[in-house]
Amino acid sequence: MNPAAGDTRADDVYAPSPFGHNLPMKVAFFDAKDYDKPSFLRFGGEKIVFKFLETKLDEDTAELAKGCDAVCAFVNDTVSAPVIDRLAAMGIPVLALRCAGYNNVDLKHAFGKLHVVRVPAYSPYAVAEHTMALLLTSVRRIHKAYDRTRDFNFSLSGLTGFDLHGKTVGVIGTGRIGKVFIGICRGFGMRVIAYDKHPSAEGVEYVTADELFERSDVISLHCPLSEETYHIIGRETLPKLKKGVILLNTSRGALIDAEALLEGIKQRIVGAACLDVYEEESDLFFRDFSGHILEDDVLARLLSMPNVIVTSHQAFLTEEALGEIASVTVGNLLAFFEGKPLENELCYRCGSVEECRKNRKERCF
Ligand code: NAI
Repeated sequence: MNPAAGDTRADDVYAPSPFGHNLPMKVAFFDAKDYDKPSFLRFGGEKIVFKFLETKLDEDTAELAKGCDAVCAFVNDTVSAPVIDRLAAMGIPVLALRCAGYNNVDLKHAFGKLHVVRVPAYSPYAVAEHTMALLLTSVRRIHKAYDRTRDFNFSLSGLTGFDLHGKTVGVIGTGRIGKVFIGICRGFGMRVIAYDKHPSAEGVEYVTADELFERSDVISLHCPLSEETYHIIGRETLPKLKKGVILLNTSRGALIDAEALLEGIKQRIVGAACLDVYEEESDLFFRDFSGHILEDDVLARLLSMPNVIVTSHQAFLTEEALGEIASVTVGNLLAFFEGKPLENELCYRCGSVEECRKNRKERCF
């Protein structure tokens, strides 16, 4: 099979890449930020030359990858059917996601055209710890206290919080991050219940989604975004929630219907919301708009609420996670071009017992 030549029959038997050790390879790195560069330059070494592009990948910018051997993308890049077709037409055989989530990739369309690799896990601790940091900030009003004391305002009025000890936290999605978060919550003496399509955590009380909504004082989302989980917290869910619930979302924005959340806050059903991700984040997050007028009325209204804390998709951002992301992404790219097995490859058939080729240590196509 020669992916660069567009030979993409799904039933081809995997053969080593024709690219051999033709190094250094050139990689178009979209949505590049200052904090990405040091770790990628370090791990890429002599073998990979990165073309760092500040712009995000989409239909209009895909052309910038011309002449490159691969593309590296992040959470808010758009890897839609037209983008995939454009990359394949330029002879680019592989897309390396430098993240775990892949809801921004049309995997079905990519099959047979563009190999997709990702970083399935880098630091579940980074995300789980950030989630707890948000919860503590909200519950103990640390953000308010920080502002006050810097103005020499040492009053405590309005800063009353509550103990997490003894409260019930409902965790939706008990994979790598969810499990670490559960461990942290237990350290605080919280009662943990969970909902997962494929329960895998030992010693955890699994309940239905509705029971979780009904019983939880705090709900934390750690499932991927999919058709099933889209707006898992939405208008229909609101009446099921315990009054005053704290919602934590460090997973993907569209798990929560932001307009419904606003309603829930106004109706005093939702006691607080801590969001590291937002449905419409892709045109805003990771960039500095200070001094500009925010066009997104829903986000502006949410930010105006005293009980809403927003961080801009920052949960992953630790030294450890950045190093791991760069090392695994570079490893994925080298494995692809050196014709080695791709343990971090993804396709729409992954997980299917009959169809998943990775079970046979083969590439997805
Ligand atoms: P994982 O794949 O280890 O765990 C996901 C869990 O969700 C699995 O247990 C799975 O069975 C469960 N799940 C899948 N579909 C479900 C459904 N319909 N209903 C209930 N549960 C379902 O993933 P991991 O590494 O724990 O990451 C979770 C999410 O965190 C990622 O999908 C990503 O969106 C997000 N993330 C956010 C970051 C940030 O910086 N804010 C960084 C890294 C990941």
